[in-house]
Amino acid sequence: MADLLLGQTLAFAGDPMTEGPEAARHSARGGVLVDAGKIIAVGEADDLRRSHPEARVHDYGQALISAGFVDAHVHYPQTAMIASWGKRLIDWLNSYTFPEEMKFADKAYASEIANRYFDLTLANGTTTVCSYATIHPESVDAFFETAQARGLRAYAGKTCMDRNAPEGLRDTPQTGYDQSKALLEKWHGQDRLSYVITPRFSPTSTPEQLMAMGALWREYPDCLMQTHLSEQTDEVEWVKSLFPQSRDYLDTYEVQGLLREGALFGHAIYLTEREIARIRETGAALVHCPTSNTFIGSGLFPTMAMAQKGIRVGLATDTGGGSSFSMLRTMAAAYEVGQLRGTPLHPSQLWWLATQGSARALRADHLIGNLAQGMEADIVVIDLASTPAISQRSARAKDIWEALFPTIMMGDDRSTKAVWVGGKPAALQP
Ligand code: GUN
Ligand code: ZN
Repeated sequence: MADLLLGQTLAFAGDPMTEGPEAARHSARGGVLVDAGKIIAVGEADDLRRSHPEARVHDYGQALISAGFVDAHVHYPQTAMIASWGKRLIDWLNSYTFPEEMKFADKAYASEIANRYFDLTLANGTTTVCSYATIHPESVDAFFETAQARGLRAYAGKTCMDRNAPEGLRDTPQTGYDQSKALLEKWHGQDRLSYVITPRFSPTSTPEQLMAMGALWREYPDCLMQTHLSEQTDEVEWVKSLFPQSRDYLDTYEVQGLLREGALFGHAIYLTEREIARIRETGAALVHCPTSNTFIGSGLFPTMAMAQKGIRVGLATDTGGGSSFSMLRTMAAAYEVGQLRGTPLHPSQLWWLATQGSARALRADHLIGNLAQGMEADIVVIDLASTPAISQRSARAKDIWEALFPTIMMGDDRSTKAVWVGGKPAALQP
C-alpha cells in the first residue's frame, strides 16, 4: 500500500550554487507519495489526496519534508573519540585516532560502534553516509552488515595504510589490495551498499600502495575512490618531502590512476591552480568538512569559488574530526566559513549541498538526495520550530528561507521529526 506524506516540501529542479534559490521547489502544503521503496509522485497535498484516496496518510502539519541528508565523508570508527581536545591533524591522528582505530580488530567492538553510529546519524536525519572504516576487514563487514540490516544506502571501504602508522594499523601494497578486493567482491552492489576504494592519504601510503589502489580501481571502474587532500599546510609540506618527484599533492594520486570522475577528495583547502584545473577537467569531487576544518584548525574551504568553477562539491561532517553528527550543524559551519571568506551561502545552497550536492559527489544524484519521482524514498521530516529559540525566530519568517535558516543555524537532532528509509519509517533512538 502506498504512503502519502503531507507537510511543507522542499525539492530542487536545478543547482542553486549556480542558479540561485530559484532552483528550489517549495510547497507550503505539499505531498510525497511513496510505494515499494520509491517516490512515486511529488505534488500539492490536495491533488495527491484526491488522486490517491487509497494511500495511508502521514500528516506532518507545518514540518518540512525533504530528501534525507547525505554525508559524503565520515569515519564511523571515530564515533567514540569525537570532540577530543587540543591537537592539530597529525598529532590528533597519532594521539586519538590511531589508538581508537586499533580497537576495530575486534569485530564485536566494530559492530557495537557501527550500531551506535547509525543510531546517531539517523536521529540527525542522515540517510546515506560515505565512510572510511579502519585497516581491519572486520570493520568493513561490521559497517555493511549494520547498514544492510537497516535497509540503508551506504558507502564505505577498508582504510589502507602501509607507512607512518603504528604496528597493527599497517597493511602492505599486496594485502591492502587483496583485502580491499575481497571486501569489494563481497559487498559492492549488495542491496543498496557500495564499496569505496580507500587509501587513507599519501602520508600513510607508499607509492607502491597507491599504485595497487589504482590497479584495483581500473579493475572496478564503477566504484568510488576516497582519500584526503591538502587539509593542513604542514601536511602539504610533509607530502612534498615524502614525494619529492611530485608536482603537487594531487599528483601523488594522479600518477597512480587515482584521479578521475568518481574520486572524492576530503578537505582540499590548499590547492594550487594546477590542482584545481585538473579536478575540474576530470570531474572528481571535493568534499567540504567545515566543522572538522575549524575544529582541527585546518582552514577555510572556498565552497562558492569551487562550485562556480563547475567542480562537484559535497558536504560532510568528517566525524570524528568534525565535531557533530548533524548535517544541520554542518550547514551552519559552512555558512560561517562562507561568511569568513566573504561569500555567505544562501539557505537553498546549504540545503542543496547537504542533499543533492553530496549525492552528486557520490555519483548517486539519480538515486538519492532529492524529492522527485523515481528517487529512492529516503526522507527526513524537519520540525522548523523544534526549540523555543528557533520557534520564536521562525514565527516571524516571511518566506521559506527565513523559516528554514534558524533551524540551519540552531537546529540539531531535536529538529528531526521523522525519517523514512527505503520507503519505511525508521525507528529513532530516544
Ligand atoms: N587525514 C588522514 N586521516 C584523517 C582522518 O581520519 N581525519 C581527518 N580529518 N583527516 C585525515
Ligand atoms: Zn576524513
